[in-house]
Amino acid sequence: MSGFDPDWLALREPFDQAAREAGAPALDIPAFAARLRRRHRGDAALQVLDLGCGTGANLRALAPRLGGAQHWRLVDHDPQLLGVLPGALQRWAASQGWRSERTAAGLRIEAPRLSLDVVWQQADLAADPEGLPLHDTDLVTASALLDLVSGDWLSRWIARSREAGAALCFALSVDDRLHWQPADAADADVHALFQAHQRRDKGFGPALGGSAVDAALPLLASAGYRCTTAASDWHIDAAQGPAHRAMLAAMVEGIASAACEQNPAAAVRVQAWRDRRHARLAGPSALAMTVGHKELLAWLD
Ligand SMILES: C[S@@+](CC[C@H](N)C(=O)[O-])C[C@H]1O[C@@H](n2cnc3c(N)ncnc32)[C@H](O)[C@@H]1O
Repeated sequence: MSGFDPDWLALREPFDQAAREAGAPALDIPAFAARLRRRHRGDAALQVLDLGCGTGANLRALAPRLGGAQHWRLVDHDPQLLGVLPGALQRWAASQGWRSERTAAGLRIEAPRLSLDVVWQQADLAADPEGLPLHDTDLVTASALLDLVSGDWLSRWIARSREAGAALCFALSVDDRLHWQPADAADADVHALFQAHQRRDKGFGPALGGSAVDAALPLLASAGYRCTTAASDWHIDAAQGPAHRAMLAAMVEGIASAACEQNPAAAVRVQAWRDRRHARLAGPSALAMTVGHKELLAWLD
């Protein structure tokens, strides 16, 4: 959980997909897509810019919902993730029964009612926000990124997006809701440390963490955007099988190590919490957790 290695992104992707599925009806993505198409130039492909793309999970979740012809530009600073990206997209297309082919610029995926041209590039979004031209971009999107960035960084991107006339879609931002079933007496203390750690600088200045969507809404409104939000929570339940158990184990490890890093003086208490959680996971007893996330769509009339 501490880094963004491909294994962690692969482990979380089915939980992300299920969470976004649950949030989708409230967002009405087809209406959002229709609005984008009305605003953009003729019947050209929708131009989508994906920030912090990882191995392409946001495209896999969002592109089929947007439908039609789309051109995606995916950006990340991590060459390892970008190296995994094309294969991950081609395996995804094949798993859907769709055709994909490498092109000179990237990749093309053809499906019924969906045609995707995909290119990717390495760029440090923290260091050089002006380096990515937004000219002709219809939609700026990111998944699991908004909680990593600072308020200043977000303000700059909102201003740039407004100037380009682009809509925004931020998926899967944490919102500080964390619930275990059953609860543990140390949950509140450990969560407070974890949530403080989520607000540390992740390269963009002090991170918004669990306040990300609440911070974004007034900034977007004052830039003239209309917004809608929906809950997209992870529901992880040991009774649901090995993928859920692996996810719970990763969550326990990730929360405990962030909490210890946040306050080394609390390490003994945090490790005792971690051991109790792992012991429960190893035995026949029930263990489940909900991790609160939010989706945010913003558009210009
Ligand atoms: C939580 S992951 C989300 C990845 C992907 N969007 C997903 O939903 O699976 C955050 C992503 O942001 C990328 N990232 C973090 N800091 C970045 C920066 N300064 N510039 C570009 N990408 C960055 C990471 O490499 C990682 O791929």
